[in-house]
Amino acid sequence: MIRCDRTPAWAALQAQYAGTGKPFDLREAFAANPHRFSDFSQDAPYVFADLSKNLIDAATQSMLLDLARECGLESHRDAMFAGERINRTENRAVMHFLLRNPASALSARAQAATESIAIQLAQVHETLDAMLACAEQVRQDEAITDIVNIGIGGSDLGPQMAVLALEEFRQRGKRLHFVSNVDGQELAGVLAQIKPQNTLFLIASKTFTTTETMTNAASARHWFEAQGGQDIARHFAALTTNVAAARAFGITTTFGFWDWVGGRYSLWSAIGLPLAIAIGAQGFRELLAGAHAMDEHFRRQPLAQNLPVRLGLLDIWYRNFHGFTSRSIAPYSSALRRLPAYLQQLEMESNGKRVDADGQALPFATAPVLWGEPGTNGQHAYFQMLHQGTDVISVEFVAVKKAGHSLPGHNDKLLANALAQAQALMQGKSGAAGPSPGDAAPSGGSEPHAVGERGGMIFGGGHKHFPGNRPSTFLLLEELNPASLGALIALQEHRVFVSGAIWGINSFDQWGVELGKVLAKDIELRLQSGDLSGLDGSTAGLLTRLR
Ligand code: F6P
Repeated sequence: MIRCDRTPAWAALQAQYAGTGKPFDLREAFAANPHRFSDFSQDAPYVFADLSKNLIDAATQSMLLDLARECGLESHRDAMFAGERINRTENRAVMHFLLRNPASALSARAQAATESIAIQLAQVHETLDAMLACAEQVRQDEAITDIVNIGIGGSDLGPQMAVLALEEFRQRGKRLHFVSNVDGQELAGVLAQIKPQNTLFLIASKTFTTTETMTNAASARHWFEAQGGQDIARHFAALTTNVAAARAFGITTTFGFWDWVGGRYSLWSAIGLPLAIAIGAQGFRELLAGAHAMDEHFRRQPLAQNLPVRLGLLDIWYRNFHGFTSRSIAPYSSALRRLPAYLQQLEMESNGKRVDADGQALPFATAPVLWGEPGTNGQHAYFQMLHQGTDVISVEFVAVKKAGHSLPGHNDKLLANALAQAQALMQGKSGAAGPSPGDAAPSGGSEPHAVGERGGMIFGGGHKHFPGNRPSTFLLLEELNPASLGALIALQEHRVFVSGAIWGINSFDQWGVELGKVLAKDIELRLQSGDLSGLDGSTAGLLTRLR
């Protein structure tokens, strides 16, 4: 495949950026085109996206679509859905989409797909049925009041984010705890709240080798036995591709998955068991169905009406042409408060790479930094920088039309704030000349004051100038439920696929996490022995202080 920066479309985009792209003004674009909202919005399963407040016009969008075609995006996408081993550094297929493929579609798919995919799909449903049966059993088991998920990264972030997001659908009487950090403070805090006879520990680890998880699992089992807990088979279950290691650890209740499920794409597998316990088998199946609807959208819609493609292309436009270094996620939904953390792993572990799929260094930027907090909290913390800082940061708003609670008055305020922030970022507000030396801003004031207000004193001026023209995307869900959450997450997975495919990188490995793991093992031994030999001065100095 031709590298993206060597395509004709890339050169065209560079010229476009130098011409009308850089000075593009959203306010002028809306004034010039009364249909801009409908021209740049998109309906996808469970998600409506307003893309109109992005720094893009029809010509740019068309060039970005050319870029996608010239980079072979469609064939790369089809290769994933055909089960080809597109994760070449690990020689693995990438088939998390299969985890949400309905069993009823088996025969239809089996005709088109290879026999091996049909076999895998049958195994997927066998495991799913067993996992959901376990979830239902736990839900009916009144003696089990606490479920403790021990896992990290993809074995934590997905289920934790989704359990919080779907709190409204959670079965009462079951408390879910998530322990990820090797810092014993986390596990100790949970153990202080639970009793062995009422607890189910889920040891979630794709590899069943991750230090944090193995350390926490060993401590949990030790605590369980020390407290007189009995029947490990009833109180411990392992969610892993490494069933042999789980058995060796002493856990006989296991739910497996496959090496073609990346850790950060594993919410849909046995790793989703805590969520299935929280929302029930039916809810979990709805989550899968929502994600599947988005899979089908991604597979079948033409590129120009394909939401993951359009989002991924915007990411390329911002990162590689505008040079934006980060994207801020602003879920205007407290239930989605862990979404930014989840998306951080999804985007940055997938596309935070400096070489292409063949290991050749890339001369252009790849994954942006992702960060964010739920609105309206973020407004009272860092939105200052979004509006008036020196960096332009594209913001992705995620809003939910229907509230998940019945408290009057809140939802309109929440939604109004989401709209107002997007509006303020775009429209800005003229301040006047810069402030006079010694002028103090009125404390707590939130309304801009023009020069000359307040008896001729200059308040604001430059300080009150909002440049505007700051881009944002607005994703809107009718309501937050298992199906819409599934669709939202699958949308994000595919969007990351799109930008990764265009950059030509392998979005499905994560070699960058390995070095630190190896060094930590060595340093742990040195913390015990005091051996400083061969260490750099800083590490040696710190280690000495830490002993
Ligand atoms: O170290 C990174 C990583 O491998 C992630 O990709 C993964 O989600 C996480 O660690 C946890 O891995 P595991 O599920 O194998 O314990």
